[in-house]
Parts: sequence; structure tokens; C-alpha cells
Amino acid sequence: MKAVVVTEFGKPEVLKYVDVEIPKYNGNQVLIKVEKASVNFADIKSRYGKKGKGQFPFIPGLDAAGVIVAVGSNIEQFKVGQRVVAFPTGGSYAEYIVANENLTFQLPDSVGFDVAAACPTVSFLAYKLLADLAKIEKGETVLIHSAAGGVGTTAIQIAKILGAGKIIGTVGNEKKASFARKAGADHVICYENENFAEIVNELTDGKGANIILDSIAGKVSEQSLDCLALYGRLIHFGNSSGEVGNFKTNQLHSSCRSILGFSLGTTRKERPDLLRETAEKVFKLIDDGDLEMKIGHHFQLEDAVEAHSLIENRQSTGKIILNIN
Ligand SMILES: NC(=O)c1ccc[n+]([C@@H]2O[C@H](COP(=O)([O-])OP(=O)(O)OC[C@H]3O[C@@H](n4cnc5c(N)ncnc54)[C@H](OP(=O)(O)O)[C@@H]3O)[C@@H](O)[C@H]2O)c1
Repeated sequence: MKAVVVTEFGKPEVLKYVDVEIPKYNGNQVLIKVEKASVNFADIKSRYGKKGKGQFPFIPGLDAAGVIVAVGSNIEQFKVGQRVVAFPTGGSYAEYIVANENLTFQLPDSVGFDVAAACPTVSFLAYKLLADLAKIEKGETVLIHSAAGGVGTTAIQIAKILGAGKIIGTVGNEKKASFARKAGADHVICYENENFAEIVNELTDGKGANIILDSIAGKVSEQSLDCLALYGRLIHFGNSSGEVGNFKTNQLHSSCRSILGFSLGTTRKERPDLLRETAEKVFKLIDDGDLEMKIGHHFQLEDAVEAHSLIENRQSTGKIILNIN
């Protein structure tokens, strides 16, 4: 089968489009013919060797959508021919993937493969962050960093669905601001040339945001505490800046504020059972037309180098889809 592999850690050019063996599946796994996969920021980190320990060559990619073509002997809930999304055991930039039964999710008939491929990582994540970690309440103000990206555009919509009052987004450049607004952000701040914490405080009459979704780390995390309201929750779930931020204990207790961390990767490994209910809720939102996956770019699998360059250079908006079959 055709696949894209990482041949050594480094720039996008280390991605190579090659022929590899179709992966083997065991009794508890399914073999899926992939239609579409998506590019996630985590793929950039794994290509640079900053996430996981890849043994070369390895196939990158977290999630994919396709059709089951074979099932292991112990599988009861899936059959050949079903349309699914999955988090595969290997990478998803490939014509075939193997996935464990508990990380495979049947798709509603109404959901096409583009939308399906766009959704698993970012929509499961955004739903968990807002509903389960932040426990969002009606009318709360939510600040979402990198609001024009895959997670950002999805989180904006899910926040609104779950009852957010005001939604404020930050973006790296002006061109992305309209994309975040179209996804539903009420205010968008370009945090490269504006002090986002000051503006958030102005927009909230000095109170600050009740929930902050922070996938940037470094200074952005630190400054976020300058605009987190009393009883606010800062959810930290990524470090796309590549920096580390520092928090102090005295920033939390008297203000009754919390900092919470979350990783979908850890949850897939340690608590995969937590994702099935989330998947059902998210698919219903998509099926009902309430949640729309914002797809900004399509690439052929063999053009994964260009797809990676786009997201790494902060030029992408929404999700990037890889057409595979
Ligand atoms: N914890 C988890 O389980 C989990 C799961 C999925 C994603 N994530 C995290 O969520 C974030 C968003 O993921 P995504 O896949 O949806 O990506 P994305 O938001 O579509 O793209 C990444 C964005 O990060 C921002 N960014 C800020 N500083 C950057 C830098 N130094 N280099 C490159 N990009 C930078 C850019 O947006 P601006 O220019 O607008 O700032 C860029 O567009 C990432 O940090 C990712 O690791 C975490």
C-alpha cells in the first residue's frame, strides 16, 4: 500500500511517499481502508521527535475515516463494510490502518468522509475540555487561543452549543481573524501585536474570562492568568509555541481559580472507554447540523510535505484533510 513515512526527525521534507506492507491485525482489531485522514499539530511534533519515540521509518497521523475491510476473531460490534473513524495503532497517513476495537467509532450515515476525518481528534478534545474539564456553565465567557485552527474553530462552536455567553479568540495574524469570526467568535484578538489579556479584561468589564483554552504554553499561558476570572478554569492542553510557562501557587487559591491539564493521547492509551460517550455526543451534534467541521485545506497524500509546511508556518485555517483513496 501507499503511505507517507517519517524517515528521520526534521523539517517537512523528511516525509516520504512510499510503498509499505499492509499492517497486520489481531483478534481485537479491525483493518480499515482509509478514505481520508487529517493533519494535526501533533504530527508536526512527532516529525520533529518532540512527541513519542518513533522508530524509523514510521507513519505519522492520529486519526482517519474509512471502511472496515476485515475484523479480528473477537470483534463483535463491527463488521466488514461499516464506515468508521478510528485512532489507529500506527499512523494514519496510509491506505490501510489497523485500529483497536475500543478506538474505532461507527459513523452516522449522514456524515461524509471529509467531515469524518476532520472531526475525531479536535471535536472529541474540544467537547471533553469544555464539558468535562471546564464544566462550562450557561453565559460564561470563554477565551480560546489559536481560534482559527482545527481545535479552535471546533471549540468555538462547541462552547456556543454548550451555552457560552461571550467567545473571544486569539489568532497569530489578521488574515485568520475572519475565519475565527465565521466559526462564531464574538471578538478576535491578534495576540502577536496586541495585549490579549488587557483586551479580554476590557471586554469583560474587568472580570476576565471564566474559561481559557490554552494550547500554546510559554508566555501565552502566563499572560492568560492576567485575564482569568475569579473561579475561572484555565485548561492547558498543548505547547505549540514550543515554550514552557510558569505558574505560581499564589495565583490560585484566594482567587478560587484552577489550572487543569488534559491529553487525548494519554486518554486513548489509559482510559479509551471515556471517549465512546464523547463520540456519540459529537456525532449527534454533527448529524443534527449544529457542529460544522471547518475544513480549510485539502491535499493529496503524496503532498503531505506541503500540508505540514502550511500548519507549521502558522498559515493554515481550520482542518487540513489528506485525500487517500
Ligand atoms: N491535549 C491534546 O490531547 C491535544 C489534542 C489535539 C490538539 N492539541 C493541541 O491543540 C493545539 C491545536 O492543534 P491543531 O491540530 O488544531 O492545530 P491548529 O490550531 O490547526 O494549528 C496550530 C496553530 O498553533 C498556533 N501556534 C502558536 N504558536 C505557534 C508556533 N510557534 N508554531 C506553530 N504554530 C503555532 C498557530 O495558530 P496562531 O498563529 O493563530 O496562533 C497554528 O495555526 C496544538 O497545540 C495541539 O498540540 C492537543
